[in-house]
Amino acid sequence: MTTSNPPLLIVEDDVALQKQIKWSLDGYASVEAGDRESALRQCRRHRPAVVTMDLGLPPDPDSVSEGFRLLDQLLEIDPLVKVIVITGQNGRSNALRAIELGAYDFLEKPFDPDVLGLIVERAYRLYALQAENARLRALSQSDATHGVLTRDEGLLRICRTIERVAPSNASVMLLGESGTGKEVLAQALHEASKRSGRFVAINCAAIPDTLLESELFGFERGAFTGATKTTVGRIETAHGGTLMLDEIGDLPLPLQAKLLRFLQERTIERLGGRQEIPIDTRIVCATHQDLQALIGEGRFREDLYYRLSEIVVQIPPLRQRRGDAVLLAHAFLRRFAEEQRRTLRFTDEALSAIEAHAWPGNVRELINVVRRASIMADGQVVTAEDLGLPGAGEPEVLDLRTVRDRAERAAAVTALARCDGNLARAAELLGVSRPTLYDLINRLGIKVGR
Ligand SMILES: Nc1ncnc2c1ncn2[C@@H]1O[C@H](COP(=O)(O)OP(=O)(O)OP(=O)(O)O)[C@@H](O)[C@H]1O
Ligand SMILES: [Mg+2]
Repeated sequence: MTTSNPPLLIVEDDVALQKQIKWSLDGYASVEAGDRESALRQCRRHRPAVVTMDLGLPPDPDSVSEGFRLLDQLLEIDPLVKVIVITGQNGRSNALRAIELGAYDFLEKPFDPDVLGLIVERAYRLYALQAENARLRALSQSDATHGVLTRDEGLLRICRTIERVAPSNASVMLLGESGTGKEVLAQALHEASKRSGRFVAINCAAIPDTLLESELFGFERGAFTGATKTTVGRIETAHGGTLMLDEIGDLPLPLQAKLLRFLQERTIERLGGRQEIPIDTRIVCATHQDLQALIGEGRFREDLYYRLSEIVVQIPPLRQRRGDAVLLAHAFLRRFAEEQRRTLRFTDEALSAIEAHAWPGNVRELINVVRRASIMADGQVVTAEDLGLPGAGEPEVLDLRTVRDRAERAAAVTALARCDGNLARAAELLGVSRPTLYDLINRLGIKVGR
């Protein structure tokens, strides 16, 4: 007997026949429907893997129009669903048409239950195989995006988008908080595009406005004081490759106009030059700023925005990627341990602390925290304390002795500091005798001198 999950859907308006099909397939969990509407409802609700279907359905059981429409709609809901058409006498030509439209197999009435059983069994096997394949494909990453470590569905979808748009010339806008991986994705886009030229990045926020224009467009010798030799700009350097305009929100308005002209005409003139140089480069831009808000304030040109944003990719922050913080932490710890030629692993508390932290600085913050911890770690384990995350380092301790020790140590240290190391006065503040304070200091290993 075969168990089936997802179930089998039986679409048949003749109740007696419906029962007969159900009995002959009693090894499968099944749901039934008598017309197209209810079949669609059942399909959305139960997501069957296999459907047996009568083509003649009410309100027009003598024609096959409802059946064909249903077949179409079922395949639209799940392109993998295996539809087995059960036709009346002389239904062969309709059955063949159904196969052409995507049905999996057909059977003529009166049907042989054993044959039906075999067809259904095979359909289930095929469905399971194809579904598993689709699942693996969805999780796989191409070589171009292999540098993007993630198991998050949203980010994996973004990787596939990047791969899909890579061969085109469309401009891509990467939006996301600081440290989410905008540059990593821009590089992946370049790699997947198979463009032979270089990947050139320029950070519009890091270069003074006065230099940005010559950085981008280059200049001819003598274009301005100090221009002692002709220099190629970044746009020109990216010819045949990819130009990443990072922090595009910081591009000053006059340069926005100039960039727009370049994007429209795809030629540049170096500063002080007269020659129009054609440039073929893919543009990627990135920002953590809200460009719509900048447009509203008149600080970013709307027409430039539309040129740059043919494809917009919103990268989710690390805290929204399920499981990624720990996945990345393991990967980076392995890398740092290798660099230091040692083996390192996280304690369970350390992993919980990583999971619990909100990572406002995203992957960059995580890298820094793990690097620091790998240096701080004693022996082979990285503890929550080594990570130094807020709230970490103090896993819930319920053992009263430890709680008491910690409280006593904190009070003694505070008192000693306040009394500038004077033991007699510190003991007084703490309300204990001097010998008791000595004991405490010895037992807890508190440093007394300055
Ligand atoms: N998914 C990832 N897998 C592996 N490394 C990553 C991933 N995301 C980011 N990194 C690494 O994290 C660091 C920050 O990433 P990146 O520079 O791409 O971020 P960003 O979004 O451009 O940040 P900013 O807005 O601050 O410029 C880099 O060292 C990068 O290699
Ligand atoms: Mg960046």
